[in-house]
Amino acid sequence: MNILKNYAAGLSLAVLFANTVTVKAQSTQNPPQLGKNSIKEVIAAMTLQEKVTLLVGSGKAPKPKPAGNGKPGVSNGWVPEPPMIGHTETKVPGAAGNTTAIPRLGIPSMVLSDGPAGVRISPTRKGDSTHTYYATAWPVGTLLASTWDPQVVNTVGKAFGNEVKEYGVDILLAPGVNIHRNPLNGRNFEYYSEDPLVAGTIAGALINGIQSNGVGTSIKHFVANNQESNRNYNNSIVSERALRELYLKVFRIGISASNPWTVMSSYNRVNGVYTAQRKDLLTTVLRDEWKYKGFVMTDWGGGYDWIAEMNAGNDLIMPGRPDQIETLINAVQHDSLSVKVLDRNVEHMLNIILKSPSFQKYAYSNKPDLKAHAEIARKAATEGMILLKDQGHVLPISHSVKTIAAFGNATYNTIPGGTGSGEVNKAYVISIYQGLTNAGYQPDESLKNAYTQYFQNAKTGQQPRRRSFGEMPTSDSLLNATVQHNDVALITIGRNAGEGNDRNLENNYKLTAEEKQQFKTIADAFHAKGKKVIAVLNIGGVIDMNEWQDNADAILLAWQPGQEAGNAIADVLSGKVNPSGKLATTFPVNYEDVPSAKNFPGTPANHPEQVVYQEGIYVGYRYYDSFNVKPMYEFGYGLSYTDFALSNLKLSSATFNGTVTATVNVKNTGKIAGKEVVQIYVTAPAKTIDKPTQELKAFGKTRLLQPGESQQLTFIIKAADLASFHTDNSEWITDAGKYEVKAGISSRDIKQTATFNVPKSIMVEKDHKAVQPEVAIDELKAKR
Ligand code: BGC
Repeated sequence: MNILKNYAAGLSLAVLFANTVTVKAQSTQNPPQLGKNSIKEVIAAMTLQEKVTLLVGSGKAPKPKPAGNGKPGVSNGWVPEPPMIGHTETKVPGAAGNTTAIPRLGIPSMVLSDGPAGVRISPTRKGDSTHTYYATAWPVGTLLASTWDPQVVNTVGKAFGNEVKEYGVDILLAPGVNIHRNPLNGRNFEYYSEDPLVAGTIAGALINGIQSNGVGTSIKHFVANNQESNRNYNNSIVSERALRELYLKVFRIGISASNPWTVMSSYNRVNGVYTAQRKDLLTTVLRDEWKYKGFVMTDWGGGYDWIAEMNAGNDLIMPGRPDQIETLINAVQHDSLSVKVLDRNVEHMLNIILKSPSFQKYAYSNKPDLKAHAEIARKAATEGMILLKDQGHVLPISHSVKTIAAFGNATYNTIPGGTGSGEVNKAYVISIYQGLTNAGYQPDESLKNAYTQYFQNAKTGQQPRRRSFGEMPTSDSLLNATVQHNDVALITIGRNAGEGNDRNLENNYKLTAEEKQQFKTIADAFHAKGKKVIAVLNIGGVIDMNEWQDNADAILLAWQPGQEAGNAIADVLSGKVNPSGKLATTFPVNYEDVPSAKNFPGTPANHPEQVVYQEGIYVGYRYYDSFNVKPMYEFGYGLSYTDFALSNLKLSSATFNGTVTATVNVKNTGKIAGKEVVQIYVTAPAKTIDKPTQELKAFGKTRLLQPGESQQLTFIIKAADLASFHTDNSEWITDAGKYEVKAGISSRDIKQTATFNVPKSIMVEKDHKAVQPEVAIDELKAKR
């Protein structure tokens, strides 16, 4: 049936799909106005067409396609661009989407823009040569999580949100908080951690900072969207317990800490049904149990049954297409969708629209203070870099070192962040070479020239394009000259990935044969002359370390640090900033050690339709610690240029009475000022249900402690923090028994322990049965 026949005769689809709906039929003289009249009155005055068009986005401008050629339902799929119907102009070019305006009722269109590492809009505009619209490329999510510092991340959020607002955007489509289930996920750089407490807390700090500007966020992708392979179709089969304790938990922590304006449901199916179509997920869990008050939108093209989406409580369908509007209107006419459902969803949206800058007619400047923000980006980047190795104290680079032989494509083409909707149109990227130069070092000129020539030749096709990470081969003569002329070698290993594809194990997670060979050749040549080798990892996700790291004396994990990359890396290498980042995701010895290795990306292997989360709750350190698998670099690990001592761990009481407070002293016992992250792990009794050997229950970072200085940190642990989810009766239960509290500086470097007793088991919360698997899962269980 044609909507044109039934509603608003004379409306064309083009008009319908501009950002504005014009309604002739139902207009009255003085219709209620949003903001002046109550939301109930506005809804009562809305036509069916107005309701539906508000709940379907207004279509969108095309966005750059990342590499990858899949179709929905096909391996490594990329969502096809929806047709651009009548979408003649958008307020903010390059933004991912808009909601539809209904001027008759005073409802403006809202602008929705990606993404997690910076406002993703077009940097230049047709017919506007006097102004640019570059946005700050912030450090990626994985780096922000590695700060373990909500305050630093909140500061980033405040500046980030200022750009959202000053560029005329209402809602930022970020942060992405999906758990790092497997290192090959192509979007891990956008995400935070393998642990829901770290990820949820840090994401909450970012959201609070962004939203303090009076703009919104969209915490995404809800839920169990832990891979890109066949992402629009893949079915994540996962137990309710693993969902509740990990994959949902991260959203719960983030949402309760920050109340994001919106939640984005994910592309995938979970336990057989698309997330956008799951009422038990979007209404029972999110709204009834968690009391979420914002609105839910689909991912771009997520789900296939628009009616089910409306019923489920997926309020907004993005980016929106005419046939979706048609389908919903038909459904109401044929009694397969109730107007009540639409009214509920409209209400969710209007509540948020009322708060939006567009509603408040905010006169955005298009001139955020990018210079000041670059400084914040640089500082935050230094806080999340992790010193993995520093044999013989090569770092910080000694004052006597001036000349540096800097190898690796990424030294010159430094990678600020990943690709896809997580990419940012930034004004510049400081390369590592530039950063070293800015810091007063003399990186070898002839090497720089050789790399510049190499890139030039690759561009013009004068040399064959090399497989994967085509590192420039270094000739013997060039290598010999650089060994002679430089005090130290620095080798950068670079990796980039993003939306639409997962990474390959060979030649991506693992270094290519050329990379390994070249690293060894350079290292051997420098070592033969008694000179040291520093590796910098400019990567968005975990890579193999096992096959090459012995050749490096020092390793700095710089992640993808945003546009100030080179300056921030030089700050840490030089010792201007003492590294204090800690791993929020484990580096295993071998990929095969990863608990999900056998179940990623699912089956069939070349076209995964389903993936079974057989490892259950044993993700990351929960697995390595419970099954005695030694990681290469464990969760929570990170070195400093100074040393710290932990002492005097004290608990408020040896008997639990609702909460327990732990205090611990941290002292800088070394010679350089620095910060330490104290991590509180708890070993719970496993009498009624299997449990990980230990779980992170709290963490805190010190201020910058001068040599000899101490700080006391305080941690509060509540009954809910200690509870496990019992699937049979949907209860969160804190078992009776002895709990061991461990204060450490990594998950495997515990410095102090204490115990308390829970005299009687506590039923903390009773939930509904939700999102349960349709099939039995042969789940991993730890024995203690
Ligand atoms: C991504 C989302 C993004 C959206 C809009 C989707 O393909 O999965 O994360 O926000 O596009 O660009």
